Formats: sequence, structure tokens, C-alpha cells
Amino acid sequence: MDIKSLIAKMTLKEKLMQLTQLNAEFFLGQAGAEATGPMADLGLTKDDLSGIHSTLNFRGTDKVRQVQEKHLAADKHKIPMSFMMDVVHGCRTIYPLPIGMGATFSPETMADCCEMAARESLAMGINVTFSPMVDLARDARWGRIAETTGEDPLLNCDMAKAEVEGYHRGGLQACVKHYAAYGAAEAGRDYNTVDMSERTLREYYLPSYKAAVDAGVDMVMTSFNSMNGIPSAGNEWLVKGILRDEWGFDKMIISDYNAFRELITHGVAEDEEQAAYMAMKATNDVEMMSATYLHCMEKLIDDGKISVADVDKAVERALRNKEEAGLFDAPHGRALRESEEEAVLTEKNREIARIAAEKSAVLLKNDGVLPFSDKVKRVAVIGPFAATGEIMGIWRCYGDGKDTVTVLDGVKKLLPDASVRYTQGVGGEIGAVADKAAIKEAVTLAATSDAVILTLGEPQGDSGEGNSKLDLELGAAQYELLDAVVAANKNTAVLLFSGRPLAITRLSKTAPAILEIWQPGTEGGSAAANLMFGKVVPEGKLPASFPAFTGQCPIYYNRYNTGRPVACDTKRVAYSSSYIDGPVRPLYPFGYGLSYTTFGYSELKVSDKTMKRGGTVTVSARVKNEGKVTATETAQLYVRDLVGSCVRPIKELKGYKKLTLTPGAEKTVAFEITEDMLAFYGADMKRKAESGEFRAFIGGDSETAEYVTFALE
Ligand code: NOJ
Repeated sequence: MDIKSLIAKMTLKEKLMQLTQLNAEFFLGQAGAEATGPMADLGLTKDDLSGIHSTLNFRGTDKVRQVQEKHLAADKHKIPMSFMMDVVHGCRTIYPLPIGMGATFSPETMADCCEMAARESLAMGINVTFSPMVDLARDARWGRIAETTGEDPLLNCDMAKAEVEGYHRGGLQACVKHYAAYGAAEAGRDYNTVDMSERTLREYYLPSYKAAVDAGVDMVMTSFNSMNGIPSAGNEWLVKGILRDEWGFDKMIISDYNAFRELITHGVAEDEEQAAYMAMKATNDVEMMSATYLHCMEKLIDDGKISVADVDKAVERALRNKEEAGLFDAPHGRALRESEEEAVLTEKNREIARIAAEKSAVLLKNDGVLPFSDKVKRVAVIGPFAATGEIMGIWRCYGDGKDTVTVLDGVKKLLPDASVRYTQGVGGEIGAVADKAAIKEAVTLAATSDAVILTLGEPQGDSGEGNSKLDLELGAAQYELLDAVVAANKNTAVLLFSGRPLAITRLSKTAPAILEIWQPGTEGGSAAANLMFGKVVPEGKLPASFPAFTGQCPIYYNRYNTGRPVACDTKRVAYSSSYIDGPVRPLYPFGYGLSYTTFGYSELKVSDKTMKRGGTVTVSARVKNEGKVTATETAQLYVRDLVGSCVRPIKELKGYKKLTLTPGAEKTVAFEITEDMLAFYGADMKRKAESGEFRAFIGGDSETAEYVTFALE
């Protein structure tokens, strides 16, 4: 495809149309999208729709073909439109939220899920997904922590890469977002200001976007937030300087929804003209849901502020994106109605989603009630999330709650001979009030059952975009239900649904067992039943710290020591970095997760006491399954650099490996540490490993204390 010659034939208006993305409603003619609605707000008419670059969140496979045909008939240059969508954790078959996928510590599982989502997306007419979302998040108040794989840069990088590779395996283009540091919103309030040092940005926040770029991601989305005073969409240093010039990313960059115009609201642009200028200077190509380029680029060119060559470069990247998606060759090829039946919600896809949900579940507490015996005669399934299909999570895309296996369905299917009874007890929404009669019914059910699954947590709509929270505790009604049910039957396990770490100190004291299942998706109920009755052993590990109290946020394991370190992490020591009214320690730390067995770690060793420049050392340990069931452990390697030219984290994850061990079996787990793994941005802001002593830890979570030391020459 000779894109340069095509551009040479285009008028400026046509070029600017190829730099604009509009919501699907504009093309489907739904209420609100007519000229009186958003179209007029954007200063557009119906005629402006032909020649548009792409749409977002278009629903209706059959409509894709119609709209594309209409579009091609009207477009002089026959440039197909691209259909983009937020396929973030599944298209039609929904798998766990990214925070749950992070808990799998299994990039392979992530890639399998993304490949499946890609196949479904293509069959439904989607060319590009606005995923992976790779923002690092340390604050569970931020609702979009649900869409992240957590607080650790290494895990985030591995998952980012796996997502891009998985989507590509399935033939779908991927757009990494939100560049950059959107996850560091102050006070966990969505869209809020981000202010951070360049060191923190480069050390923790940027690597996952870079990993996606290195894995060949097709697009980058700039973020809503300001960073150090400049919103990303207009941040030339961040976008042109780092993404384009340093990392060499020469593909398409798209804004987030209306983010060019929001430069005005942020107060860095006086009007659309200045916003368009800033956005183009930063080298954003396509503008999502605003029309500042369309409105102002001609004047900016006439005034000599922007060159035609700059516009042409952006158009080239926007068209190249469609070429790479194969749209010029087959504008409909990816939206065939016939293939939808074969591709979506198949048994195979359900199986992939179920396995992911099983691997994502994290056993937070177990006094020995789990797993329940599958010989039980009477099971009670209680609580607000027990009999609903709405356990899919925030970006459920084409997912339909009617297709979801509920917890109740899952248990009934697994135990066909048992009596499985359900009552809701209380609502799951914020501010829910307990009804005495409903609690009494739950108590009666619990008291007359052999095992009780109590579903608690937050509804799927409580996390995700714009859903920040002030309080991460469960509501009073859920505690009333918990106390009453546990008093009636001690053989109770809580199945916890959430899109974020919750601050569940009180729950951890009362519940005999807690299994965190996030928002598990279409096969959530099957996974829950398998886990609760021991058909599958939990293996998930937390990808983000669970605070003991909301006031600990932001909280993360790889923190700095301070000059007055935490002297005791459970209670206050005067003049140490602590709280007067509670612990510093999270309730459950990063990397934590129990099993139905226990794993013993021993014989921690380092191959050499000294690492030569350019050389390696190997750190190893023996891991033993000390229990009675075969299970999988994720052994984690942490490193601490004792002295640096700038402060260094108290621990950093440098590797993780899964080991499946039969009862009594033992294996050696070994990690090779390279010089590059020890590198960081020092006082001079150059990335390198500094000579000196290091500690290496291997264990089952980030609080593992035993270490060996070695020195880098
Ligand atoms: C806004 C969100 O921030 C972004 O993640 C999403 O891709 C776009 N809307 C499009 O839906």
C-alpha cells in the first residue's frame, strides 16, 4: 500500500478526518448522537462522518458490515474505518479482571486469555482493543486498580508483554494505555493530578509501557492526568521525548476520550487552538472524541505554527495502523457473521476463562474449614453475589450476565446429589441496610447446613473508571450478615468479590476462611465451586497489598526505608515512621496467598559471594510440599540493594517461578541474577548497577525474611 501517495491526494480536511475518532453512536444514529446531541457539541455535521478514522465501542456485529459499506461508498479514497473497543478482560467470554489476572502470576495464562479474547473480538468486527492497561497502582482507593495487574513493575512488565503477544496470536491489534502514570492519581481519586520524581517515573511507572512497546504493541493511548503540571496529551517531554525519541515508537498514538479538549479544563490551553497545538507538538496522532484538529489545524498551519509535514506524518501513522490491521485488503474480513457462532462463548473459551478464574483466586485466610468436603449433604450459598451473573467486572464488553455461571449454579453442578440452598441475606451496594427477617432466614439456612459459602465484597460496578472509594471496608450490613451466619455455623467460608484490595481487618478476625475471587467472569461460579470443594487448590498470590486500614493507602511492598524506619510494623514506636492509631503492616502483603497445603523453604544458597561486572550469581532454595495435596507454589525472588547513591527499596521482586509438588515432594528453585537486574536510576539519573552488597530472599511472599548476601564488584 503506497500510503504516502494516498496522503498526497488527500485534502487537509480529509487528512484531519483521519486523525479523528468518534463514538459508535454517531454512526448508529442512536438517541443523543444526532446533530442536536454530541455531534453539535463537537461542531460536526453528518457530512463530517464520512472519512473518519475510526469508532470506539461499537456494539452490534451486523452493524459493522453495514456501517463499513456505507462508509466506503461515501469515502472518495476508499479508506476503511477501524472499529476499536475496550476488550480488557474478555470480549464475549469474560475472564477475571486484570487485578485477578495479576494474581495468577502466570503470563502464560494471561496470553491464553488474550488470544481467546482476540479471536472473539475479530469475529465481532473489532480491529483494535484498548488494552493492555498497564498502569502501576499502589492505591486501592483508585477504582481503576481493578484494570491493572497491580503494584509491581516486574509483574506488570511480564503481563504487558503477555497481553500484547496473546492479542497478536489471536490476530487483534493492541493499544497500551494510559501513558503515563495514570495509576498514581493523588488520593486515589480518578483523573487526579500526578506529581512524581523522574526517578520514580522511570523506575516504577514507565517500564510496563516500555515492555508493551518492545513486545510490538500497535498503538499507545496517552492518559488523562497531568504529570508534574503537564497533562499527558500535551506533554511533549513525555510523549515525543520519551516515547518517540528515546524508545523509538513510531506507530499511532491516540488520546484518551476528549483529552485534547480537557487540556482547556486542566487550564494549560486557553482554547481548542492551543489544545490542538500542544497535542500535535507532543506527537499525538488521533484524537478521541473531540475535534480540535478538525477545527483548528488549518489556522495553525496558516499561522506557521504547525507544518503540513507534521500533519502528514500523523496521518501516515494513522493509516499505517489500518494497513497493518489488514483493513485495506479486507475491510469486512474480520466481521463475518458466520464465524461469530463458532468463535464466541465456546466450551473451549469457557474452559480458558475458568482456568484463569481458578488461578486468580487468592486464599487469604483458612482456619481449616477449606476445602469443604464434597461429601456434604446440605450446602448454604448466601450473600449478595451468590446467585447473580453480574460478577464479570467493569469492562465486561459483550459479556452477558445471563451466560455467567453463578456461584449457586456452580455448586449445584459440582454436587448434584447435595441439597444446595440459597438466600441473599443483604444487598452488596454501598449503604445497604440489613433487614432483620432476611438475616434470620440466612441464619436458619446456615444452621441447617453442613457447609456455608458466604459471598461478600463489592459489586462489579464499584471498581473501574470513575469509581474511587473513600472507605475500603465492607459495609455494616455485610458485617451483620457475617456475624450472624458465623455464629450459626462455624463451617463457613467467605468468598470475597472485589475489583481492588479491600481493607478487611474486621472480616479477617471473624471469618473462618476467606477466598478472594475478584470479579471472576463468565465461569466464576464453576471456578468458585471447584476451589471451595478442593477440586482445585488455590494458587493465586496478591499482586497488590491489602491494606489493614484505608488510611494506609497508598501502600506497597517496595517502599523506601526512611531515616526513621518502621521499628515495629504492628504497633507504634515513637519517632519511627508509623501511625499512632494502627499498624504500618498491610493486612496481607504483596505476593501473599495460602494453599490447601503448606510449603517449606530451606537451604537458601548463593552460588558466589561476588558477582563480577557482566557476570551472574545464582540464588536457590529447596521448596517442599509439607501437606497432603498436590499444589502449586509461586516461589518469589526479592533483592535488596543495601547502599546506593540514592535510597533503595527495602525489597524488589526480581523473579518468580511456579512449582507443582505432590505431597512430601521437594524441588530446588533457582534464579539467576544478572547485573542488569540490579540496575537503577542513581543520583546522576543514569541507569546502572552500583557496586556493593545485596541481599537475596526466596520465599512465598514479599515478607519473606531469610536472605543470603553477595557483592557486586
Ligand atoms: C476512557 C478510558 O480512560 C479508557 O481506558 C478507554 O479506553 C476510553 N475511555 C475508551 O472507552
